[in-house]
Amino acid sequence: MAFRTIIEPFRIQSVAPLRMTTPEQRRSAIEAAGYNLFGLHSDDVMIDLLTDSGTGAMSRDQWAAIQHGDESYAGSPSFEIFRDAVQGLFPFKHVIPTHQGRAAEKIIFTVLGGKGRTIPSNTHFDTTRANIEYTGAEAVDLVIAEGRDPANLHPFKGNMDVAALDAFLDRNAGRVPVVFVTITNNSGGGQPVSLANLRATHAVCRKHGVPLFLDACRFAENAWFIREREPGQHDRAVADIVRDMAALADGMTMSAKKDPMGNIGGWLALNDDALAEQCRNLLILTEGFPTYGGLAGRDLEALAQGLKEVVDHDYLRYRIRSTAYLGEALARSGIPVVQPIGGHAVYLDARALLPQIAPLQYPGQALAVALYEVGGVRGCEIGTVMFGRHPDGSEQPAALDLVRLAIPRRTYTQSHIDYVIEVCQEVAAAAGTLRGYRIVAEPRQLRHFTARFAPLA
Ligand code: F0G
Repeated sequence: MAFRTIIEPFRIQSVAPLRMTTPEQRRSAIEAAGYNLFGLHSDDVMIDLLTDSGTGAMSRDQWAAIQHGDESYAGSPSFEIFRDAVQGLFPFKHVIPTHQGRAAEKIIFTVLGGKGRTIPSNTHFDTTRANIEYTGAEAVDLVIAEGRDPANLHPFKGNMDVAALDAFLDRNAGRVPVVFVTITNNSGGGQPVSLANLRATHAVCRKHGVPLFLDACRFAENAWFIREREPGQHDRAVADIVRDMAALADGMTMSAKKDPMGNIGGWLALNDDALAEQCRNLLILTEGFPTYGGLAGRDLEALAQGLKEVVDHDYLRYRIRSTAYLGEALARSGIPVVQPIGGHAVYLDARALLPQIAPLQYPGQALAVALYEVGGVRGCEIGTVMFGRHPDGSEQPAALDLVRLAIPRRTYTQSHIDYVIEVCQEVAAAAGTLRGYRIVAEPRQLRHFTARFAPLA
């Protein structure tokens, strides 16, 4: 590349206003929200990095595809366009549309889960884990040891610990209905899984006669990392790498709110006829007829177009570089971040930045609130608030206290990100003055969404 500046590979054709607020306005908004960022009105947020899920900007061609949507209850041609686009990358025999990823999870685990069963993954995402546990089954994470160390620079920190998986399948023979691999590993920092690791995982699954499924929300980002980092992959088309990943699996769940560039959508895809029939029957019960699932015909068409756009190399080069641009600038300023920088988000290490705040006084929450008060930047605590409360009522520090800054696709420009960098630097410069929080009210489950906090004196 002759130039250092990564330009966005698109022009802006339609804009939404971003409301400017003052620190005073933000302090009163967050106080009214009980210091919970999920409780804010989004027009009180200036740069919203809460999630990259469903928050991306659709392209001109996706909006055009929306106009083309056919809303027939059964046999809609929009379904065929969608199915062909999915199978072009993931050639599974059956494609079952759902309204989002967790609906696909609910269906597959209703069929495959249940008491006495156990389902390993590199790392289950929270809704995946929750859907497994809801059926009475157990969810187990078997990521490589490097994947648990925020500073380790391993290029594929999302990899499955294949030896541990092999031993696990030996120990639990007859109890494992499926193995999952999450690409990229969201809960582990947006870290990729290598093709070699997927091959080895596939071989172990075959040896034990257990099917392998992908949780493939960020498949294109994962394939780009393979292209960049894995020996022998550099000259290949991302779409071919994606097809190689798919060929190693027996099925997949998808949240189409991520890499497929949708504001809503998902699917379940698989090869097994009998299993597909059971899943379709459940689909009809809770989502809809198999040619639309939980979606409108227009949504299916937008996703079909999004799937073409997301495997474009110029897009992916920009996407991965611009996430790294944020992460590397923060690291250069001395702000501790999970390394290497992941695909969709930068994860700040709040426990390292705020050593004066004990984990049970929620350093991640303190950092997330400060980023909002100082600059109107909304991130998401991923730490003791999210994971600290256990089913027996006890509370323990989570393994890490992180704040995730997730980057919506094609939504913010480099100047927005430069602003985020400045806000983070400002907060870090005053890190020693930040105080912790206590929880004044919390629900019994998933407390991070609705808990109310008070600052400690
Ligand atoms: N799997 C992974 C790896 C995810 O990151 C998500 C959602 C899901 C499944 C569930 O998909 O939201 O469409 O039902 N992750 C979002 C996030 C919510 O912010 O990381 P969904």
